[in-house]
Amino acid sequence: MKLTQADFQERRDRLAEQMGPHSIAIIATSPVAMRNHDADYKFRADSSFFYLTGFPEPEAVAILETGETGNDYSYSLFCRERNRELEIWNGYRAGIDGALNDYEADEAYAIEQLDKQIIQKITDKQRLYYRMGQRADFDARVSGWIRQAGEQRQGNGAPAEMVQLDRILDDMRLYKSAREIELMQLAADISAQAHSRAMQRVRPGMMEYALEAELNYVFGQQGCVPAYNSIVGGGANACILHYVENNQPLKDGDLVLIDAACEYECYASDITRTFPVNGKFSPEQQALYEVVLAAQLAAIDAVRVGNSSREPHQLAIRILVEGLLRLGLMQGDVDQLIESEAYRQFYMHGTGHWLGMDVHDVGSYKINGEWRSYAEGMVVTVEPGLYIAPDDETVDVKWRGMGIRIEDDVVVTANGPLVLTRNVVKSVADIERLMAQVVAV
Ligand code: GLY
Ligand code: MN
Ligand code: MN
Repeated sequence: MKLTQADFQERRDRLAEQMGPHSIAIIATSPVAMRNHDADYKFRADSSFFYLTGFPEPEAVAILETGETGNDYSYSLFCRERNRELEIWNGYRAGIDGALNDYEADEAYAIEQLDKQIIQKITDKQRLYYRMGQRADFDARVSGWIRQAGEQRQGNGAPAEMVQLDRILDDMRLYKSAREIELMQLAADISAQAHSRAMQRVRPGMMEYALEAELNYVFGQQGCVPAYNSIVGGGANACILHYVENNQPLKDGDLVLIDAACEYECYASDITRTFPVNGKFSPEQQALYEVVLAAQLAAIDAVRVGNSSREPHQLAIRILVEGLLRLGLMQGDVDQLIESEAYRQFYMHGTGHWLGMDVHDVGSYKINGEWRSYAEGMVVTVEPGLYIAPDDETVDVKWRGMGIRIEDDVVVTANGPLVLTRNVVKSVADIERLMAQVVAV
């Protein structure tokens, strides 16, 4: 399943309508990022640019210009021209004809024309919508264009108003359409398969990176790439929240935490599972795991239309603290431990974030200082955890060095929470059963 030009056009229509009359919007894609000398990272389009255009190539800028009303607008695409020589080296380019015919631009120009054409386009517009602060180099160019437009002897010069375009685009992207949810379900299904495979492939003595390769195999077989750097942390490495070295052996008797997921057609998933390297939870591992799982299930259940988006975090904290008290890792009064944030010794991150084209997706979390309420079409992760530092002498030695997180992707629907990542098991019994199954090579 892929989005079509009709989907991208509908988004441009909605943006233009919000821009109002006599306005211009400038949206650039990402630059190609250098990895090291003469070796680039594989290009990934800027999410907001791709959201509006579906155009996957680097060096591209989209312009929307409204006329008397926001419904009457034109769409220009500046992109790389076709070039036989460069296409032999670096691959196919849509070029001007492709921009017009395949990407349905009303006007298309070579990217080298941008500095010249844009002055005329900006001049006489009342409002300029621009994504300020995304790229310093591009911000400087836009400032230069505004100055040049202001110096024009004819017309009204530069636009009177500058508007932060991200405020509009981020809000559009926060609410996912049914087709976007379909794409996210595909990404979630592939990631769920990858986690299931990892549970079945892991063996004591295996290197963390070898287990990561099992996930990458599933992503790659289905044309996907990781949505973010995979975390595969055995034992105490799971207590390092952004552990990505993945270069240590997995030990018999330890847990392994995997936070890894793919993106499909630029839509991300984000899954964490924690399971025993040898296939069987120890009593302590199971006890701590059950606390995190109870917190996660309660938090997921709170992802409902009208609820505060803070509620899952508050519920998770309470259940985690109650569990830590029950197991003897903390002492005191639940309310007081929550009030003083003493739990941060073991739980120091949030319980979730928006998910979409970016793994930490756009969209403000608060409006006028208040946590936003959930509404249909929002997608959020729910990812509580507990991390007992290996040198934490405040707890019994049997708990030290355990890191557990469980993360799923949840859509807010009229019928309650829809868990996109439901196809990878997470109860102790289900994990142990899956891990005991013999897998075909
Ligand atoms: N994988 C990044 C996160 O869970 O936020
Ligand atoms: Mn996450
Ligand atoms: Mn994650």
